[in-house]
Amino acid sequence: MKIHITEPTFAKATAGKEDHKALAGKFCISAEYLHFCISYMAGKKADNIIITIDGWSSCGKSTLARQLARKLGYVYIDSGAMYRAITLYFLRNHIDWTSKKEVAKALADIELEFIFNEKLDQSEIFLNGENVEYVIRDMVVAEKVSEISAIKEVRDFAVAQQRKMGKSKGIVMDGRDIGTVVFPKAELKIFMTADNAIRVERRFKEIFEKNPNVTLDEVQHNLEMRDYIDSNREVSPLRKAADALVLDNTNITQEEQLKKALSWVKELKSGKSKIENRK
Ligand code: DC
Repeated sequence: MKIHITEPTFAKATAGKEDHKALAGKFCISAEYLHFCISYMAGKKADNIIITIDGWSSCGKSTLARQLARKLGYVYIDSGAMYRAITLYFLRNHIDWTSKKEVAKALADIELEFIFNEKLDQSEIFLNGENVEYVIRDMVVAEKVSEISAIKEVRDFAVAQQRKMGKSKGIVMDGRDIGTVVFPKAELKIFMTADNAIRVERRFKEIFEKNPNVTLDEVQHNLEMRDYIDSNREVSPLRKAADALVLDNTNITQEEQLKKALSWVKELKSGKSKIENRK
């Protein structure tokens, strides 16, 4: 499995500087452009942090992670999309995931890429060159993803790739084990929760738009089943990291949750953080 991420923030920072981009395209870079690049990269690296967002299914993790990444000019990685894409591959290719040999062979044949879609202003996941961002949200995948993501070999491989993505920081990653296993030393860890009824309603609305045949019961059953498997599996079960900050968004708007998270980032970067004292 290979993972490539495009760098949306750099593309955005150079937007409007068409002459510079054209020059760079011809391998001829002006001094002004070079200076811009160096200061951009230096500034970017200096105070970049890793932000992890973990929590139950349909708590709004990806919404917050995407908004935070946009605001901060960070890369957003939806780790759940990686497990969903692997599940899709296993289902399509009739992989017997109880066989270690078949799992290992399948993983070697999987290439995942996150490619930034400028029109949608977000990254999309590609499985062996195919954009699967939409199809991985299907109930057929949701039914099996927790079972497949509980397999040690699947996790080992995904986690190794996720760690590589965080090497230069400036990343927001959401999932189930990001603050506990993938980046245990992340500067900011958020654990999201919301009332069950709210979560079911949110996920139902999301799936209903694509599949009007889905029922509320089906969605509720799927969420309960995934929460159970995700938090009871042997390998890196869903847990709140001891130093994670809890964000319950049952009664707050998306704007309010973003404001809260940004205030934590600001506190942390100001060096006066009470957040660090929680460790
Ligand atoms: O975030 P999501 O609902 O798209 O994730 C789909 C499944 O992937 C989830 O039920 C459990 C698994 N997952 C995981 O095991 N570890 C992660 N870091 C992210 C997702």
